[in-house]
Amino acid sequence: MIEIRLENVTKYYSGGTALDRVSAVFPAGSFTAVIGPSGAGKSTLLRCINGMDRADAGRVLAGGVDMAAARGSVLREAQRRIGTIWQDFCLVEQSTALDNVLNGALAEVGFWRALFGAFGRVRTERARSLLTRVGLSGKELQRAASLSGGEKQRCAIARALMQGCEALLADEPVASLDPVHAENVLSLLKRLQREEGATVIMNSHSVDQARRYADFIVGLREGHVVFTGTPEALTSGTLKTIYGDEVA
Ligand SMILES: Nc1ncnc2c1ncn2[C@@H]1O[C@H](COP(=O)(O)OP(=O)(O)OP(=O)(O)O)[C@@H](O)[C@H]1O
Ligand SMILES: [Mg+2]
Repeated sequence: MIEIRLENVTKYYSGGTALDRVSAVFPAGSFTAVIGPSGAGKSTLLRCINGMDRADAGRVLAGGVDMAAARGSVLREAQRRIGTIWQDFCLVEQSTALDNVLNGALAEVGFWRALFGAFGRVRTERARSLLTRVGLSGKELQRAASLSGGEKQRCAIARALMQGCEALLADEPVASLDPVHAENVLSLLKRLQREEGATVIMNSHSVDQARRYADFIVGLREGHVVFTGTPEALTSGTLKTIYGDEVA
């Protein structure tokens, strides 16, 4: 279980400021939904946490490691503890579900061994059991391209678990799924939080889903945190603060 903590995080882009002195705590083993209008900085926030982007100022502490400052093996080890899933799944479409999950162990086995598929029996068994864990037993050898959207997202979750992550970041993970598959994936995230103690941070455009699945909600607007609290504390007034006059 790891806590993630942002302290005065600022991220600039050429066009402006995506995050402006953002502070937030994501307690170990909690499920937090980050909501806010398009362009508020939600994806940037996740990229600063997983090390894909580097904050320009402030600290991004993940399990005590500052992702904004870490380098080399310290950064790579911290990144291993943070899995990310995306709206468009980011699987290797021509590879099987099993191979996609095995890719989660790439950092562990090294590029050359992975290139020759030398993941070893123990890792392959682990990948199979993770596919079973996410409800994809029997689909191991199916190409990712032919999995349904919901199955693809569950495969991506298994890949994140394969890397041994303790935090799971999800950037609009169900935005392109139908309601039934969306609920399946969200329930799986909730189960991983409860059963594995994963720290889940999910960006969402659905206030309803955020309310139903998250313990805490962070509202972002134009790079600022404008709300932090429980779903119960999210009133129509606070929604207006987050979304302005847009309909939430
Ligand atoms: N690589 C980049 N280069 C320049 N500007 C960027 C880059 N990435 C993000 N931005 C800008 O930073 C701001 C925040 O973007 P971000 O993608 O984090 O928003 P978001 O809340 O995830 O939006 P959405 O709900 O549409 O996904 C936006 O103004 C965006 O244009
Ligand atoms: Mg986004």
